[in-house]
Amino acid sequence: MEIVIRADPDEVARTVADIVEGYVRQGAATLGLATGSSPLPSYRELARRHRADGLDFSRCRAFLLDEYVGLPKSHPQSYYSVIRAEFVDHVNLDPARVLSPDGESADIGAEGARYDAAIAAAGGVDVQLLGIGTDGHIGFNEPGSALTSRTRVKTLTAQTRRDNARFFDGPDDVPHHVLTQGLGTICEARHLVMIATGAGKAEAVAAAAEGPLSAFCPASVVQWHPHVTVVIDEAAAGALKLAGYYRYALANKPAWQSF
Ligand code: F6R
Repeated sequence: MEIVIRADPDEVARTVADIVEGYVRQGAATLGLATGSSPLPSYRELARRHRADGLDFSRCRAFLLDEYVGLPKSHPQSYYSVIRAEFVDHVNLDPARVLSPDGESADIGAEGARYDAAIAAAGGVDVQLLGIGTDGHIGFNEPGSALTSRTRVKTLTAQTRRDNARFFDGPDDVPHHVLTQGLGTICEARHLVMIATGAGKAEAVAAAAEGPLSAFCPASVVQWHPHVTVVIDEAAAGALKLAGYYRYALANKPAWQSF
């Protein structure tokens, strides 16, 4: 795991965009997209590079991490809609090739397996962007999620519903249930890029990167993955014990070595 501490959210966004751009320039990349606020500056930076430098997403496809259960796709806060409004509409990524779990499926119990099969049929995800919840969730794998879990329905904690109430008219409007890629599903992506900014994420980042590998902090599962880049700002790095070492390693990173 490589921990990259940047000065502020804008620098975080440029580093994340650099990583994603590397895959996009290879051609037919499969991107794993997160929603929530953490990746938004990175999406804006990628859209800027598309406009300014012609960064070409036309051969890419994408899979979302998660979706609310029961929220119509047309709802502005469905992740189907959010990812289009925040990213897909601003680049030349074909919306038909941006897939998400179907939170309106008539057979919601079977939807997870169908979604995992779709990811596998596409050859898997090349680079997966992840945010992290204040309780250590990634995707919507709340504490207690099996480290090998597959895509399935989960119940949001009261804390996550409160955290996400800012996107809705009120806290009661946040759905209780979600479909989320499982931790095992997420870990099948070939490169994980975890993004966190702000002091509110500092404890969760430290638990994920330096705490025990445990279902209690689902994000700690990234410790088990061979290729992880954690891109955070100074505020989100505030609780890391080895921050000095991460800075030193980055300052002395061999020129030939990419993220
Ligand atoms: C969203 C997702 C969630 C968020 C997490 C952090 O697709 O998978 O895990 O990444 O809740 O949300 P923000 O970035 O809004 O703090």
